[in-house]
Amino acid sequence: MKWFTSITVLLLMAILGIAVASERADPPAPEGLRAGAGSFSQTLEAPPIAGVTEKRGRMERNYPEQPPVIPHAIRDYQVDQRHNRCLDCHSREAAPGAGAPMVSITHFMDRNKQVLAAVSPDRYFCTQCHVVQTDAEPLVENRFRTVDQVLHDLVREGRQ
Ligand code: HEC
Ligand code: HEC
Repeated sequence: MKWFTSITVLLLMAILGIAVASERADPPAPEGLRAGAGSFSQTLEAPPIAGVTEKRGRMERNYPEQPPVIPHAIRDYQVDQRHNRCLDCHSREAAPGAGAPMVSITHFMDRNKQVLAAVSPDRYFCTQCHVVQTDAEPLVENRFRTVDQVLHDLVREGRQ
């Protein structure tokens, strides 16, 4: 009878093990920035790409050194070694004709603040710093304040 008991115990343990393993095979995915977490084996649909904002025209900067956001679509604009589509409108020569603001003087400076004749290689890949303004909702809640709000609060507290 002893062997019968041990086999039953072993069998029970095996069944329990399978139950636990199948539970673990598809655990819930971590709460990411996408809506809904799903499980590890699920491929959830990507959220739709945010649209370029309807508000037209240049937008206020939140602090003086902010790279201004781009107030127009830039889809399929070529920026590579052969051509820079942005400079077709924003270069010194093209800006007046295109009705676009010229890249600022800082874009002609090398790392030693020496002003060069052409846009500095440091500033060639415009989208490294400039992004299109979209209607995307913030992914995480934040308490960002513009420089004016910060200044205003400092003055009120009598610290400046
Ligand atoms: C066909 C011409 C054209 C091209 C190409 C173009 N832009 Fe513009 N861009 C404009 C015009 C015109 C404005 C001004 C819009 C306004 O005043 O309403 C502008 C505005 C901007 C601004 C806002 C500047 C400010 O001070 O608010 C940024 C930044 C900008 N563009 C970056 C880019 C970048 C980066 C690219 C390439 C990916 C690019 N643009 C390509 C015409 C162009
Ligand atoms: C390393 C980051 C960086 C890169 C790369 C860069 N910019 Fe800027 N850009 C800035 C910052 C910061 C400002 C605002 C402060 C300033 O003028 O330097 C600015 C300002 C501008 C402005 C507003 C100028 C004005 O006087 O109002 C335009 C237009 C612009 N950039 C276009 C471009 C274009 C086009 C390119 C690519 C050829 C480019 N930028 C590359 C950071 C960058």
